[in-house]
Amino acid sequence: MRVLPVNINRNTNPSHKANNRWVTDKLGNKLYMTSTVFFRDDVIWEDLIKYLCERYKNVPKVNFVNYACSNGMETLSFAMSFLMYAPEEFKKFTPIIAKDINEDNILMAKQGVYKRYIDAFLRMQRITNKKCQKYLDVALCPNDDRLLSVSPKKILTDNIIYKQGDIFEDIENIPKYNTFLTCRNFWQYISFERKSELAKRLSKRLNPSSIIMLGECDVVEGRADLHLELNGFKRCPCGMTCKNILYSKG
Ligand SMILES: C[S@@+](CC[C@H](N)C(=O)[O-])C[C@H]1O[C@@H](n2cnc3c(N)ncnc32)[C@H](O)[C@@H]1O
Repeated sequence: MRVLPVNINRNTNPSHKANNRWVTDKLGNKLYMTSTVFFRDDVIWEDLIKYLCERYKNVPKVNFVNYACSNGMETLSFAMSFLMYAPEEFKKFTPIIAKDINEDNILMAKQGVYKRYIDAFLRMQRITNKKCQKYLDVALCPNDDRLLSVSPKKILTDNIIYKQGDIFEDIENIPKYNTFLTCRNFWQYISFERKSELAKRLSKRLNPSSIIMLGECDVVEGRADLHLELNGFKRCPCGMTCKNILYSKG
């Protein structure tokens, strides 16, 4: 598979080859860091899960599509949060279809072995009141005592399907109704023109019963919220739940 630059209109050179690296322009100037973590700080995870359960309480099945899922840490954070806060309701949100344009990321997600610094793991424990431990196998790395090897248990991986995919090429396949679509901390990768195009096409595709979830840097830097609003989406009235990052037409 050939990975094409996502941003065809800007003078950038994103290679999508790994996380935690800088994307630079052709002069080598740093543009942004591509990274992901477990339980990103831009979400209050418990509130988000409760909001989704309430919103879809009368619906038998929710299509959960997690675009730009990176190496799976985000998808696993969603799955762990559901298991911690709404295990019964989780059933109707599964399987989570998790996609990223980068094949290396998807490979890593499928392998499901994450090397984490001990303080990063302690952060996860703090955020989840140590509940995340139940869903992960954790071991010390033999050759570096600052690192832990963290792997999701079957109860998580059984509920996730990882696939390589470019959101631009997939839109016609996204279910229209009762879809919870996340494409978070991703819009900074694409040009102004392509943001508008994506918002327009998503808006055309999705019925008002569906929700789009962005990430904090999308809203602050990318102005993706503006594109969505122009195309008929409004911020969901969920107060402090998750820093204004849920959008819907309904
Ligand atoms: C900064 S990471 C964010 C990961 C995750 N959503 C999060 O918030 O932690 C952005 C991800 O978007 C992916 N990506 C970029 N363009 C994409 C596209 N057109 N379709 C799907 N994924 C894409 C990249 O490969 C990268 O893994």
